[in-house]
Amino acid sequence: YGDYNQKIDYVFKVVLIGDSAVGKSQLLARFARNEFSVDSKATIGVEFQTKTLAIDHKTVKAQIWDTAGQERYRAVTSAYYRGAVGAMLVYDMTKRQSFDHMARWLEELRGHADKNIVIMLIGNKCDLGSLRAVPTEDAQEFAQRENLFFMETSALESTNVETAFLTVLTEIY
Ligand code: GTP
Ligand code: MG
Repeated sequence: YGDYNQKIDYVFKVVLIGDSAVGKSQLLARFARNEFSVDSKATIGVEFQTKTLAIDHKTVKAQIWDTAGQERYRAVTSAYYRGAVGAMLVYDMTKRQSFDHMARWLEELRGHADKNIVIMLIGNKCDLGSLRAVPTEDAQEFAQRENLFFMETSALESTNVETAFLTVLTEIY
């Protein structure tokens, strides 16, 4: 992928949402650059990164948008969701409250995004298994009821991060 003249067949916008500190920015850093930072700063406003990949012999540019979980640092909601064809709804599996807030995030997402948007529920920080506060079954049940894909990930250990993004991108395609 060193060829900057390569032809892009599709550009897919994917948004990350969920409470502050669940690991949205680190999931993105892991996926886009294979990096991870322990002392990640809270996101202010909106950031995005792109990653170009091949899906079914087509060149797909994933444009992943990341915003603050904290209300006071959030960007204009409608602009954030505009044109999004995929969404990662992220909670921290060691923080029950971040999972309990998923319904609210989903409501905001459904209120602003295209109705055909592909949504993945993500239980991040599965490396901290001994501190688990959200049983896999609870999340599975929620995902099934709301018609979402679901995966448990670790940005720290790279578990399922690529698979989660690729599943969404392939489903969009
Ligand atoms: P906001 O930008 O405030 O919305 O937060 P965020 O969701 O982007 O969280 P961020 O990615 O900044 O991560 C918050 C903290 O969790 C940081 O200390 C990260 O290093 C840590 N973290 C992120 N992912 C993981 C993970 O998979 N495992 C562990 N153990 N820690 C993680
Ligand atoms: Mg962030």
